Amino acid sequence: MIEEKKIHQAAKLLLDSKTAIALTGAGVSTESGIPDFRGEGGIWEQYKPEIYGNIKSFLTDPSKFWALAEKVAPNLFKAKPNPGHIALAELENMNILKAIITQNIDELHQKAGAVIVYEVHGNINRFVCFGCRASYTKDQVIKKLKKKKQYPPTCDMCAAPLKPSVVLFGESLPTFEIYQSQALAQKADIMLIAGSSLSVAPVCDLPAYTLRDGGKLIIVNDRPTHLDERAEIVIHDKTGIILSLIVEELKKIKTKNETNK
Ligand SMILES: NC(=O)c1ccc[n+]([C@@H]2O[C@H](COP(=O)([O-])OP(=O)(O)OC[C@H]3O[C@@H](n4cnc5c(N)ncnc54)[C@H](O)[C@@H]3O)[C@@H](O)[C@H]2O)c1
Ligand SMILES: [Zn+2]
Repeated sequence: MIEEKKIHQAAKLLLDSKTAIALTGAGVSTESGIPDFRGEGGIWEQYKPEIYGNIKSFLTDPSKFWALAEKVAPNLFKAKPNPGHIALAELENMNILKAIITQNIDELHQKAGAVIVYEVHGNINRFVCFGCRASYTKDQVIKKLKKKKQYPPTCDMCAAPLKPSVVLFGESLPTFEIYQSQALAQKADIMLIAGSSLSVAPVCDLPAYTLRDGGKLIIVNDRPTHLDERAEIVIHDKTGIILSLIVEELKKIKTKNETNK
């Protein structure tokens, strides 16, 4: 009952908003079969991302990184968007969400049909040479790995190791995306936060930009976050369920408003 009320409130806030954005994390993709970093029983308990996904470790021994990447990648590549991604894409297509800022590297927002997506931690489908910055597609890299069963795959031009275009721990974030995210967060009257522990900097600072300029937060996460008490609405449940219910409710209110005109 309480959840129903919160879903109604969230839908209303989004419908009345002018500059709403979404901020998403690994939690929106767990229902697509991609484990998050901080969940239980995931591959990350065995391979600490802070160690294996660190730029220093990559530079010290890129083959270690690639051995793990090859274990994790098939799951990432075959994942399909879930109802949470679809709900967010619908909100963006309806022009209610002006953008989706994501920490995810899985492209599932775009696969669900969202257009304005800022990937602040990069993307799993492109690869770049660490030496000369030449860019490689996923298929080119898979071909290389099949041909020369050896880690890491290397650049045809300069023989330096290739690296997925994802931001590793210790690397700086893409300048444009982070600048744009801060500007959007500052302008946002509503920030819908979904599936993020809000513990990875600097993305975890974005909600503060929204709050500082009088914007409101809606948080949908199955566990508490440190910003729960500063949010207008907090729902501790699965994003796949709740985001779909919010969209359904929003459409109902919209239809009601239009027939009452
Ligand atoms: N899918 C991906 O692309 C992917 C997967 C793992 C990690 N990462 C990277 O990991 C870093 C971790 O930060 P983060 O905040 O994104 O993730 P996180 O792992 O720190 O937090 C995810 C949060 O989502 C919650 N959650 C999990 N499943 C949920 C569900 N179905 N519904 C609601 N809540 C759910 C968890 O309890 C947790 O609080 C990011 O930098 C991100 O780039 C990305
Ligand atoms: Zn090169």
